Amino acid sequence: MGSGKVCRWTLCFLFACVVGFRSVAQVEAALKTYLFDIQVKNVSRLCHAKPIVTVNGMFPGPTIYVREGDRVQINVTNHAQYNMSIHWHGIKQNRNGWADGPAYITQCPVQTGQSYTYDFNVTEQRGTLWWHAHIFWLRATVYGAFVIMPKPGFPYPFPQPHFEFNLVLGEWWNDDVEEVVKQGNQLGLPPRMSDAHTINGKPGPLFPCSDKHTFVIQVEQGNTYLLRIINAALNDELFFAIAGHSMTVVEIDAVYTKPFATDAVLIAPGQTTNVLVRADQQPGRYFMAARPFMDAQILVDNKTVTAILQYRDVPNTIIPRMPHLPAQNDTAFALSYNDKLRSLNSPQFPVTVPLKVDRHLFYTIGFGVNPCPSCQNGTALTASLNNITFVMPRTGLLQAHYFNLKGVFTMDFPDRPLAPFNYTGAPITTNLRTMQSALPRLSKVAYNSTVELVLQDTNLLSVESHPFHLHGYNFFVVGSGIGNFDPKNDPAKFNLVDPPERNTVGVPTGGWTALRFRADNPGVWFMHCHLELHTGWGLKTAFVVEDGPSPDLSVLPPPKDLPPC
Ligand code: C2O
Repeated sequence: MGSGKVCRWTLCFLFACVVGFRSVAQVEAALKTYLFDIQVKNVSRLCHAKPIVTVNGMFPGPTIYVREGDRVQINVTNHAQYNMSIHWHGIKQNRNGWADGPAYITQCPVQTGQSYTYDFNVTEQRGTLWWHAHIFWLRATVYGAFVIMPKPGFPYPFPQPHFEFNLVLGEWWNDDVEEVVKQGNQLGLPPRMSDAHTINGKPGPLFPCSDKHTFVIQVEQGNTYLLRIINAALNDELFFAIAGHSMTVVEIDAVYTKPFATDAVLIAPGQTTNVLVRADQQPGRYFMAARPFMDAQILVDNKTVTAILQYRDVPNTIIPRMPHLPAQNDTAFALSYNDKLRSLNSPQFPVTVPLKVDRHLFYTIGFGVNPCPSCQNGTALTASLNNITFVMPRTGLLQAHYFNLKGVFTMDFPDRPLAPFNYTGAPITTNLRTMQSALPRLSKVAYNSTVELVLQDTNLLSVESHPFHLHGYNFFVVGSGIGNFDPKNDPAKFNLVDPPERNTVGVPTGGWTALRFRADNPGVWFMHCHLELHTGWGLKTAFVVEDGPSPDLSVLPPPKDLPPC
């Protein structure tokens, strides 16, 4: 545990025991402070050593442990040669976009030699989130877990685990990732694939020179464990499974779910999943493994990362068993898995899905090929929402909004595509160009209005699954389907009772997903595909949520140390 002493207590009545966690010193809304020193460190994996950008020399970076209600201050000092900004993925940052982190959206990056303190409250959230660099591809090595413990006296709404572990899934390149990306952009093509997947920074023994880079958790027979699984990979949705052990999903994106048992978990970049695992097998060694899910005709890797679940007193010489992972293109598994995700919707954790919609948005997701005279084929791959490729501003959009600076963005992002077509019909390979305006185009949203957003995949060049992440909010995933969204008949099938609530959702390959949220958090909020490749190609936009009717419902004043551009 990073901070705050916690003691476990057990209360036994005649037939039952209640186990919980209580803080030793009654911490009420404590202040937790962290120092993040961005520094370059030599790290070796897969028989190579290379300098990577790290936080405090750690890879992955430190876990942040806080308690619901805490105020958190994280001082980031940048000693690397790259500009840096850090995003606390999933933290709602009420009225406080200044601490959200996406570079040029809510802040200018922290330049070399400078520092900035992210100062925010963690309110009405508990569970597993994570943090990562939010500038170019630096999150390849700059990321870590962010764990919010429930308030004292509020035990988990599921059997209390004996112990818990974080499993942060990532990707590793043998070369400098920023260079890999630069080369890709120069060619107008995707940069080359990662060389390994990792669990807590370790690829596991199926990769060369990786025996000593294998993450192991030790369990005791009969005990139950909470695994906090985070997908920090740049470009891959992943299946995760444990040999011989079933998992019970209890939380996604820091929201409790109705528990359900499963042999495998599907997790997209940006998402988190908490599962309970009971060590109920023969004492032995069992692989925990993850491998990409990809059901579009797109080149993807099939590397398998492994870690080991090891029963106590079992010797390391035993060869672990491999779990059965769904096939790489197992669409049926993916759809049925996502279908099982339901909010807990208990009296204590009720669902607040908007039943009435003030604003209907329909955004298409597409690829394109734009002219690029300097590129290898004279063209560059690009991506768009409603055929608009987002152009990055040179100053923070939130500052521009707050100080009313002109000429930084326009507020004319269209609510629906200008020219509707058969979105998921035969592949469309002509007229793929996307619109690129001089300034980023955003969408204005009235304070406290309810928004329904349908994200529609298209067959522009190729269908593909896209994990979409909205900053500043959780949303409810009220529906999804394959093919074109049908505005007449599909809404009748929406789940408005216990839809999953999350901050990142996978739009199915050649399908659509419908989200609802109440725009009660004023500010400028980024929304993008969490595949870094697609974010870089422009698959992103931002909402400007207007201030509420009073100062205490409006964006807070910016902190004094907000970095200049
Ligand atoms: Cu986890 Cu805008 O990202």
